[in-house]
Amino acid sequence: MQAIVAPSLLSANFGNLDADIEMINNSSADWLHIDVMDGVFVPNISFGFPVLDAVRKKTKKPLDVHLMIVNPENYTERFREAGASVLTLHYEAVDHLDSAVRQIQSLGMKAGVSLNPHTPVSLLEEILPLLDMVLLMTVNPGFGGQTFIESSYNKIRKLKELIKETASPALIQVDGGVDINNAPLLVQAGVNVLVAGNTVFGSDNPSETINSLKNCHKRIT
Ligand code: DX5
Ligand code: ZN
Repeated sequence: MQAIVAPSLLSANFGNLDADIEMINNSSADWLHIDVMDGVFVPNISFGFPVLDAVRKKTKKPLDVHLMIVNPENYTERFREAGASVLTLHYEAVDHLDSAVRQIQSLGMKAGVSLNPHTPVSLLEEILPLLDMVLLMTVNPGFGGQTFIESSYNKIRKLKELIKETASPALIQVDGGVDINNAPLLVQAGVNVLVAGNTVFGSDNPSETINSLKNCHKRIT
């Protein structure tokens, strides 16, 4: 099955965002992945609403917003206004996950929950049937261009099993260190959505790279 591909804006050229958004608009990318970091939940600060409001006006792709912030439940409505179609918050950042997920969905967005590399998938067992997506961090969150954590394959397989057991509709998304070589292995392990920052924007032909990621299932041996 073809993967859903979500290039990550974090690796785009912020000096000329128009050009990169245009490239994404004309590419086979499915979603645009937006990383919001607050310098508290992760040791980095990215961008916030003014950038998002500007991006939304130019992009033709659904916005897949990944919140790496504390108290994300306080901002769900504002992210809806900013154009988010998918809103993902971290398991580690929310006390009342069930309410937060229902709140996101009642605002008309798809709800995702993300797990840091050290957080076991078993913690999602009760809430899985409610989720639209689970984002497995395959690097420690905060920065683009890091090395993929190899033990993630096992975690993906465990999550796939749990999704089946709980009859959950959740998609599996991976984020961090995704490249042309590991993409087919990730899809084979059960991944539905590939996020890629450095691999797309650091390549000579970003649009072709997006195509290769989308068609990586053809390279499964
Ligand atoms: C990292 C972010 C990622 C980042 C991925 O915390 O959540 O979305 O942009 O970047 P790459 O694909 O370069 O590892
Ligand atoms: Zn992300």
